[in-house]
Amino acid sequence: MITRVEGLLYGADYNPEQWPESVWKQDANLMRDAGVNMVTVGVFSWARLQPAEDEWDFEWLDRLMDLFHSSGIAVDLATATASPPAWFVRQYPETLPVTADGVRLEFGSRQHYCPSSPIYRAAATRLARAIAERYGEHPALALWHIHNEYGDHITECFCDVSAEDFRRWLRERYGQDVEQLNFAWGAEFWSQRYSDFSQIEPPRRAPGPVNPGQLLDWRRFSSDALLACFLDERAVLKEVTPEVPVTTNFMSMMKDLDYWKWAAHEDLVSDDAYPDPADPSAHVLAAMNYDLMRSLGGGRPWLLMEQAPSAVSWRAVNVPKTPDQKRLWSLQTVARGADGVMHFQWRASRAGAEKFHSALLPHGGTGSRGWRDTVRLGEDLGKLAEVAGSRIESAVAIVLDWNSWWALEAEDHPSARVRLKEQILSWYSVLHRWNHVVDFVPPDADLAGYKVVLVPNLYAVSTEDAARLTDYVYGGGYLAVGFFSGIVDELDHIHQGTDAAGGGYPGPLKEVLGVAVDEWWPIPDGETVEVSFTADEETAKAARKPDRGQQPKPAARRWSEWLGTTTARAVANYAEGPLKGRPAVTRNEFGAGRAWYVSCDLGSDVEKVLGEAVRPAVVWPSLASTLAWSGVEVVCRSSETHLYYFLLNHGDTSVDLGSSVPFGAVNLLTGSRPTHVAANSVVVLKVER
Ligand code: GAL
Ligand code: ZN
Repeated sequence: MITRVEGLLYGADYNPEQWPESVWKQDANLMRDAGVNMVTVGVFSWARLQPAEDEWDFEWLDRLMDLFHSSGIAVDLATATASPPAWFVRQYPETLPVTADGVRLEFGSRQHYCPSSPIYRAAATRLARAIAERYGEHPALALWHIHNEYGDHITECFCDVSAEDFRRWLRERYGQDVEQLNFAWGAEFWSQRYSDFSQIEPPRRAPGPVNPGQLLDWRRFSSDALLACFLDERAVLKEVTPEVPVTTNFMSMMKDLDYWKWAAHEDLVSDDAYPDPADPSAHVLAAMNYDLMRSLGGGRPWLLMEQAPSAVSWRAVNVPKTPDQKRLWSLQTVARGADGVMHFQWRASRAGAEKFHSALLPHGGTGSRGWRDTVRLGEDLGKLAEVAGSRIESAVAIVLDWNSWWALEAEDHPSARVRLKEQILSWYSVLHRWNHVVDFVPPDADLAGYKVVLVPNLYAVSTEDAARLTDYVYGGGYLAVGFFSGIVDELDHIHQGTDAAGGGYPGPLKEVLGVAVDEWWPIPDGETVEVSFTADEETAKAARKPDRGQQPKPAARRWSEWLGTTTARAVANYAEGPLKGRPAVTRNEFGAGRAWYVSCDLGSDVEKVLGEAVRPAVVWPSLASTLAWSGVEVVCRSSETHLYYFLLNHGDTSVDLGSSVPFGAVNLLTGSRPTHVAANSVVVLKVER
C-alpha cells in the first residue's frame, strides 16, 4: 500500500476555498457515489490559512478534514506553499523571482517566489509546521503533499539573493578554490578567469554566448535550490509526523529538475501527466513518462497525482478526451505501475484562470457525460483493487542522465536540433511497439539485472560510467549507443584520453563500441541521407516482422558522422552524400556481449537496429510478443500469487486474442474470459502464477 488506503487510489485536487461550505457536503457525497477514496486538499490555501503574518485560520479546514473523515475519504494534505499570499509579497517584495533579463515577476499568478530566499523558505516551513502540528494526528490524513510541481513556472531566479546562494553553492562544489572553478569552467577562454568567488554572478543576459561551464553549474544549482526548498519542508514534516509518507508531484520527464536526486527523498513518487488528446501518439510519450516514474521509485508503485479528466485549458487548442480514451489512458497508468489515479480537479471552477479546465464534476453537474465517465472510472478502479502493490519486471534499461541532458542541449554545438527527450522517445517508441517495458536508470546504475541496455544519447559521461558500460558488455550484455555520446566528461570538457595528440571520439566508449568518429556531419533542416542496411540484417528483420507493404528507404535526418571502425563491423552504410559508403551503424562483438553504435538520427528507422539489439529480451511466445505490432500495449504486473496482464488497445480496430489467452484467465473488468480487445478499450487478464 502506498498510503494507508487499501486498493487503488482514486480522486482529485479539491479546492474548497472556491466554494461555500454548503457545497462541501454535497461534494463529499458525490465523491462517495463516484468511488473516490482520496482527495488532495489545500494546494493553494495559503492566503486562507494565514491571512496575515501572525494570524492563522484553521477552523474551516478542521471542518473539511472532519467531513472527509466521516465520509470515508482520505486526505493528501498539501503544505500550501506554492502560492504566497498578497500580504506576504507586499511585505517582502524581495521574495519575488527575477528573470535573466532582470525583470522582477509580479504577484497575480502563482509560484511567485525566489527559491533561494531565506524569507520565503522560513515562511514556507513555518506554514508547513503549522499544518503538520494541527493535522498530523487527524484520522483523515494519509499523505503529505509538499508544495506543488516544483519547477512549474519558476525553475530559476536571477536576483541578488540567488546570486549569493549560487556563490555559496560554487564555493562548496569547488572546495573554496576558485582555481578549480576556473579549470572546470574553462575560464582561460575569452579572458573569463576569476580571482575570487565574489566576482561570480548568475548567467544573466550577456552580449554573446555564456560560458558553458557556468551555465551547466547554474542548472545544477537551480535544481538543487528547489530541492533545498523541498527538503526544508520535508524535514519539518518528518520531525512532526515521522510515520506519514511525503510526496511532491513531479512533472513527467522534465528537463529542469534532476529527478534522480529528488526521488531519493520521496516516500512515494507521484506524477502529473497531461498527454495531449490531439497527438495520435500521446500514449507512447505517456508510457515513457510512466516508466520513468516507476523507475524513479526504484520499481515501487507510484501515484498519478494529476491528470485532466478531459481537456486542459493551457494549450492553444484544448481537445477533450473521448470517454474511451479517458478510461484507456487512466488504466494505462495503472498498467505501468501506478497504484492510484488522481486528477486536477474535482469540481470545475467558476472563476479564475482555469475555469475552462475539465474536472471530475463538470460545470454541467451530474447530468454531464463527464460525470458518467467519473463514475465509470471509479467502478473500474474498484474492480482492479487487488492489483495494488504488484510490480513490473523489465529486461531492458534506458540510461538517462540530467547532467548530460543539460550539457547536450547547451548553445554552440554542432547542431541546435538535437534534443534528448526526442531521441529517447524515438528509441522508446520502437520498444513500445514491441511491448518491452523499460526501466530508466542513471548512468552509475548496477546493470547486472538487464539483458539489454540502451543509451539513445550520453553526450557527457565520466570515465567510470563508461567503464561500467564497457564491463557490462564484456560480461555478456547487449548495448546500443546513439550518436554524439561519450564526447565530454562531467565538466563538459572534451574527453582527451591519455594521448597528448588527442584521444578521438567517442572518448571512453571507443573500446566497447569499436569505432572512431572523425567528425560530426549534421544534416541541414529538411534534408535526409539514405542509409542502407546490409543484406543479412534486412533478411533477419523481415523474418520476424509483419509485412507492412512497401516501406520508404531508411534515412538519417538531423545528424550523421564521419565514422570509422576499429573492431566493429558496419551493419549499415550511408548510401549517398559526402559520407557515401562509410559506416552509419556498427556492431562490435566485445567479450561475451555485443555493442551497437548508431551514428545518425534514424528516427523510427532505428527499429532496424534495435530489433537485433533487444532480441535477448524477447520472451516467445508471450502475450507481449504475440501482440507486438498489433497496436495493443501489453504490460504485466505481478504479485506473489498472480500475473495481471493489461492489454490496452490504442487502435481503432478490435484485436482478436485467439488462443493467446492463458488457461483460466479472466478479465478483471468483466469477470469473464475475453476473446478480443475492442478498439480503444482495455482488458486486464488475471492469471495464476
Ligand atoms: C498542473 C497544476 C495544477 C493545475 C493543472 C492544470 O500543472 O499542478 O494546479 O494547474 O496543471 O492542468
Ligand atoms: Zn532569487
